[in-house]
Amino acid sequence: MNIQDAYNEWSTIYDSNINRTRDLDAEVTRRTLKGRHFSSILEIGCGTGKNTEFLAEIGDAVLAFDFSEKMLAKARQKVTASHVRFAWADITQPWNCESDSIDLIACNLVLEHIEDLDHIFTQAERTLRSGGWFLINELHPFKQYGGTKARFERGENIIEVDVFIHHISEFIHAAEKNGLKLLKLDEVWHEDDAGKPPRLISFVFGK
Ligand SMILES: C[S@@+](CC[C@H](N)C(=O)[O-])C[C@H]1O[C@@H](n2cnc3c(N)ncnc32)[C@H](O)[C@@H]1O
Repeated sequence: MNIQDAYNEWSTIYDSNINRTRDLDAEVTRRTLKGRHFSSILEIGCGTGKNTEFLAEIGDAVLAFDFSEKMLAKARQKVTASHVRFAWADITQPWNCESDSIDLIACNLVLEHIEDLDHIFTQAERTLRSGGWFLINELHPFKQYGGTKARFERGENIIEVDVFIHHISEFIHAAEKNGLKLLKLDEVWHEDDAGKPPRLISFVFGK
């Protein structure tokens, strides 16, 4: 299903349905960024604001982009702090954000929906300040090789969202090509995943 239509529909149950990947991402994000503070944060693909709430605690200013109006509407209800601004944006287009202005970019469970990783890394490098971090948490490609993809239930049907597979080397190469350095790489299992491939891959790149 078309990505934007899918998330507009999924928005009503995104926070409440069983979703181990969503929950694991929330845990890993908090663990990775714990104890740090950033003056300016950009979140790309914020969805219903699951991580925006936490980013608001560790940032002086948070700008959060998404292209699903209905996911954004949920996020706006959830996070009302005055230093957080939500904006409609399609991140496959140039980001409406000043160059060298951001200390942390957070991108959680979004890049499986983006075909051109190079564009994302180009925009990240442009908008990050020197010393800034680019955090990416994604469904691990090993799960994708086995057929796992973003999906939700509509009545008795399972609706699958359009996705692209990005191998681990693609992230590393796109970062290198755009002058970002790999600072941290983790592979993470949910407690129910024993004996299975890792569920999440987590990168921190630095400028
Ligand atoms: C699986 S949700 C993740 C939401 C949130 N980051 C989280 O971790 O809960 C993916 C989000 O990416 C957004 N998204 C996908 N493609 C996008 C694009 N091209 N531009 C902006 N947002 C996009 C979707 O609308 C959706 O809200």
